[in-house]
Amino acid sequence: MISRTIFVADYQMPHQDPRAVDILHRYLVMEHKAPVDTLIVGGDLVDFKVLSTKFLNSQVNRQSVVSEIETAKYELDHLQYLTPGARRIFIGGNHEQRLRTYIRGLAPELEIFMNDDRSLSFDKLFDLTELGYQPYIEYPGIFEHKGLTFKHGDYTGAGAGARELKREGSSGMSGHLHQYRVHTETNRKGSHAWFHAPCMCYVRGPNMPPGAHEGVQDWTQGFMEILFYEAEDEKRIFQVNPIIITEGRAIMPNGQVIVA
Ligand SMILES: [Fe+2]
Ligand SMILES: [Fe+2]
Repeated sequence: MISRTIFVADYQMPHQDPRAVDILHRYLVMEHKAPVDTLIVGGDLVDFKVLSTKFLNSQVNRQSVVSEIETAKYELDHLQYLTPGARRIFIGGNHEQRLRTYIRGLAPELEIFMNDDRSLSFDKLFDLTELGYQPYIEYPGIFEHKGLTFKHGDYTGAGAGARELKREGSSGMSGHLHQYRVHTETNRKGSHAWFHAPCMCYVRGPNMPPGAHEGVQDWTQGFMEILFYEAEDEKRIFQVNPIIITEGRAIMPNGQVIVA
């Protein structure tokens, strides 16, 4: 029996690319052999630049934290609508975590409001329960699912996949790099792999997150499809299909081309 999981990460709202979002939505409504059984939103849904202590004195739009949260809720609601019957998971990223760092640093008396479903928790800010998501997994937390470890990601640089694999001791997937990558290791204990998912934010043009070089980020845009096959002997195998989006165009696993 085949089941399908979707992992989508790093929208970095307000820097999400609406063409990529449109392609994800259209992919989700396409007919597939196996319906989406689990949807994982893998963190950095919002950018929260205004809450970063790095940018405290820079010219930032103080209202953006409200609009980022509202846009995030709108997308989470849309994803719920497009994945009926799926289990929905939200794993926080380092950008969501900027809220806790900010409050801890500047108003530590209020930090208690971030815990246990209180008013500054992401369960409340993103309406996760109402929108059909399981309780927020705070950065750097993980979600174990069908033998794989899903997380936002702790490492960057050339050896990121090897380091994630070593730290978790299991095959898995993360975002955070904004690059599609695969690191594989086969040894006497078996075959292991760490997948880095692409991002949903702009990778070029005027609305990229900060840090571009010459107007381009060395990033990949898209999301991940993971198929699991559970055999009767209880041995499980999986197949990972990256859905790569290039300037508003993508080829679906069934060969159909989507142009946003
Ligand atoms: Fe990110
Ligand atoms: Fe990140």
